[in-house]
Amino acid sequence: MRHIQIVGIGTGNPEHMTVQAINTLNAADVIFIPSKGAAKAELADVRKDICERYVTNKTIRFIGYEVPSRRTADRSYVQGVDEWHEEISAIYERLFLEHLAEKERAAFLVWGDPGLYDSTLRIIERVAARGNVPLDYGIIPGITSIQALTASHRIPLNLVGKPVQITTGRRLAESFPGIAETAVVMLDGQQAFSKIDDPDAYIYWGAYLGTKDEIIISGRLADVSERIVSTREEARARHGWIMDIYLLRKGQDFDDRT
Ligand SMILES: C[S@@+](CC[C@H](N)C(=O)[O-])C[C@H]1O[C@@H](n2cnc3c(N)ncnc32)[C@H](O)[C@@H]1O
Repeated sequence: MRHIQIVGIGTGNPEHMTVQAINTLNAADVIFIPSKGAAKAELADVRKDICERYVTNKTIRFIGYEVPSRRTADRSYVQGVDEWHEEISAIYERLFLEHLAEKERAAFLVWGDPGLYDSTLRIIERVAARGNVPLDYGIIPGITSIQALTASHRIPLNLVGKPVQITTGRRLAESFPGIAETAVVMLDGQQAFSKIDDPDAYIYWGAYLGTKDEIIISGRLADVSERIVSTREEARARHGWIMDIYLLRKGQDFDDRT
């Protein structure tokens, strides 16, 4: 039985690494490192920096692998993701057969926390379900971009006693305002916030959180929306890529005190 650990590494700052994550990396025989193309070379640098800082066990083998792009033409979003996971799971299966002996331990470094908008766990589950490579797996939690965002803005995630919705740019229009007073929006390539017309909404936006390039902007949505759009555009052009997240909020603590 091979052992796979899916290790959360935080969102850009190597100091987000937990002691548990560091110990798990050092206990591995193999660390698998994805390559995501030149545009996101800075993300690969974060993984490299983490390994250089914390991996002291010199016997560990580092194995790189290519991550295929997700195809989007002529298929629904869900079909595209399903096919993509299948393709990556075949790559993982080959990696395990070729580079990991039985009873050896491997680790994947996963951005943020493996449980939040990340598919590594689902893909490993597919490999396990196929049964060609007997394996077991575990998860080491990591600091998420949500925590990085609220910490940088020095705000709590939730209003007192209130729920929070976590959603994507594609789904924002359906969920805010409405289900919850607080919505956290991730994976938004279309700046869905700019289409929300609500005079009472506040936004707390952050890009490249945890890295030396971190940018944060906050304020009444109507006042700062355009500034966020232009800042985002300029930063994306300069870096060649962007990762941003934001929290939208209506109301305040104790609004409903009677
Ligand atoms: C595929 S999800 C991965 C989330 C990750 N597992 C986590 O725990 O935060 C990628 C999205 O997370 C958010 N994100 C991740 N890292 C970020 C960062 N350093 N700064 C801003 N947003 C980030 C962005 O919304 C991005 O589109």
